Amino acid sequence: MANTKLTDAKTAKNDEFYTQYSDIQKEMNAFLEYDPDTFRDKTVLLPCDDPEWSNFTRFFAQNFERLGLKRLISTSYAVESKKYKDYQPTLFETESPWFDANKTRIKGKIFELTRDTNQNGRIDIDDLEWHYLEGDGDFRSKEVCKLRDEADIIVTNPPFSLFRDFLNWIMGAGKQFAIIGNINANTYKEVFPLIKENKIWTDNPFVRGAGYFETPYEINTTLSYFNSHDYREGLIRVPGVRWYTNIEIGRRHEPLQLMTMKDNLRYSKHLEIRVNGYQKYDNYDAIEVPFTDAIPSDYEGVMGVPISFLDKYCPEQFEIIGVFNHGKDGPWDFATATINGVDKYKRLAIRKKQQP
Ligand SMILES: C[S@@+](CC[C@H](N)C(=O)[O-])C[C@H]1O[C@@H](n2cnc3c(N)ncnc32)[C@H](O)[C@@H]1O
Repeated sequence: MANTKLTDAKTAKNDEFYTQYSDIQKEMNAFLEYDPDTFRDKTVLLPCDDPEWSNFTRFFAQNFERLGLKRLISTSYAVESKKYKDYQPTLFETESPWFDANKTRIKGKIFELTRDTNQNGRIDIDDLEWHYLEGDGDFRSKEVCKLRDEADIIVTNPPFSLFRDFLNWIMGAGKQFAIIGNINANTYKEVFPLIKENKIWTDNPFVRGAGYFETPYEINTTLSYFNSHDYREGLIRVPGVRWYTNIEIGRRHEPLQLMTMKDNLRYSKHLEIRVNGYQKYDNYDAIEVPFTDAIPSDYEGVMGVPISFLDKYCPEQFEIIGVFNHGKDGPWDFATATINGVDKYKRLAIRKKQQP
């Protein structure tokens, strides 16, 4: 199914998808494998994470010592988080000044952990002490911006409907980050130039690129992806999920193992390559490469490759020079690539890296 739940979420502002502990752990461990000191002496901010139930908060609080953190801050947004399926405000809460006349919570929450508050060296995760923020916890509020400015690293699964704003909010402050987003975000005009310049990159530790999230929304079991073999009880399967980050990771420095053009034309597992070869675009001097594993290792010119190439992108092996989207986003958006007058899918324009 081409459409994705994250895309749906973006349009419908359905932002409540909760990340599993194991997905967070896997990615943070990948950073640590590359550099065991990734988080040492750092302040980590989790700005969309209800301290009461976020697995991001849970992971970083439980691993505070091991990571060598200086300070951990987790804040949550009031307005949306009341939708969480298990969240039942008590009578005491709803009568407190933190709730409005509609019994909607109007204040965000904050939880903080420092080396001083962690003196006994053990965090009892079910006993985290949190407070209300002054405001609703919107990441764009003055209060949360101040926390961002104090942080070194920002980690979260942000609201999908605000992905662009969120990334801009981080990059504007020059912070390190790791956030979850949809694969399609990599060609947004606000995101692509950052990827092209190797200022940020994506990582895909998800099996077949799909994540499983908890959600308060009713799970519609008639949707095709719920009838698929990898349906998991109580979790929603979201295809096309990626981490976006500017923290170094080993995987992105592993070059792809590829065949030469001559070998691909003879032995490629893709019939299309063996039969059609590598066709040139009508409107740009580049060849169409419809599969990442069919990129010819010895082609020196520009190649149009699927956007999922980014999962295998090694900046020492290839350079990204642009995108074949619709030709409107900027000078790097060359055109809608066509072959014999037929539009091709959105493609990345890449070229073999010239060795110095
Ligand atoms: C995709 S959910 C992920 C929640 C949590 N980070 C996790 O992964 O389990 C995004 C969260 O951002 C919150 N949110 C929505 N708009 C926000 C805003 N303007 N500022 C901060 N958080 C917001 C939503 O309430 C939601 O809980």
